[in-house]
Amino acid sequence: MNLLPKDTNGCPYLFLAPMEGVGDRCFRKAMASIGGFDEAVTEFIRVPSNAHVKSLAKVYEADETAPIPIAAQIMGSDPQLMAAMALEMQEKGAPRVDLNCGCPSNTVTGRGAGSSLLKEPNFLYEVAKAIVSAVSIPVSVKMRSGFADISLFKENLLAAQESGACFITLHPRTKVDGYGPPARWDLIAEAKSILKIPLVGNGDILSVKDALKMLQDTRCDALMIGRGSVTNPFLFHQIKAHFAGKNYRPEWSALIRYFEVFCAELNPESPNRGKVNKLKQLMSFLFKGNEKLLQTRQTILTSQHPTTEDFLAFALPLLKAGWEG
Ligand SMILES: Cc1cc2nc3c(=O)[nH]c(=O)nc-3n(C[C@H](O)[C@H](O)[C@H](O)COP(=O)(O)O)c2cc1C
Repeated sequence: MNLLPKDTNGCPYLFLAPMEGVGDRCFRKAMASIGGFDEAVTEFIRVPSNAHVKSLAKVYEADETAPIPIAAQIMGSDPQLMAAMALEMQEKGAPRVDLNCGCPSNTVTGRGAGSSLLKEPNFLYEVAKAIVSAVSIPVSVKMRSGFADISLFKENLLAAQESGACFITLHPRTKVDGYGPPARWDLIAEAKSILKIPLVGNGDILSVKDALKMLQDTRCDALMIGRGSVTNPFLFHQIKAHFAGKNYRPEWSALIRYFEVFCAELNPESPNRGKVNKLKQLMSFLFKGNEKLLQTRQTILTSQHPTTEDFLAFALPLLKAGWEG
């Protein structure tokens, strides 16, 4: 089975990136209502050293983005616990487990997880191998290009490959880079020349043009898109349409539905203010992604509305004006 099949028009497999905080369950469900991507993944599920895997695993729902499959990303550094968590995910129906080797947060890296795994390729191998050995579903590794620098770049790629990972996703910035400098696509091309297993290219794809350029420049096997999908939820469809030789015209009704699904998924227990702020955050990304809307973005951010319905009644006409203008 090819894990990263191209579609009939030759479009590479498209992943919605994990994005803790922004790309939560509400966002993923809303994105699934628009579709266009082939697979989603959860944001990292922390597996701390005192983890009780069964209770932590409850956050994973295999049918969350149905019919689009959703993999489970786990983050931690205790090989036994990580293996137990992966098994738990498998039992909950996850089609794949992804090992996080990229999270730059100090609270995470302090405990040796996330991007800290990139400091010691042997240890990365040990953690990944423990997971691969524990489950029968495919295991992938998502990594940055290094911790402080790229001196262990090749060693980390090979460690992941040798552990039995089915593919690697590379976000070519170091932990120290954070999200600052442009993603180094030359490193994706280099990784492609090093690896025998498939490689998913990730980082700074904001348009169809970027997606095509990444494929052309790096020869990577598939693409993963994070922030570009928040600023333009139709980007996956636009990429697919390009390969099909078609024009894709986003439907306004699909965007309305996107917000409706997002609001329906907001935690009913959270106060209205929290819900409005989450919706505002999502909406502000759309205003950021559209030049015509940039100047109205501040109005959106500073607006005060008691409920999500009130906020939508205020913001949607502004969005529509820019959308159609
Ligand atoms: C708000 C935010 C949260 C993120 N959370 C995760 C995460 O939970 N797991 C992970 O592997 N990467 C995470 N990332 C990294 C993204 O998956 C992706 O690698 C990075 O944003 C580069 O891709 P992009 O330019 O398409 O956004 C996060 C990125 C952002 C902006």
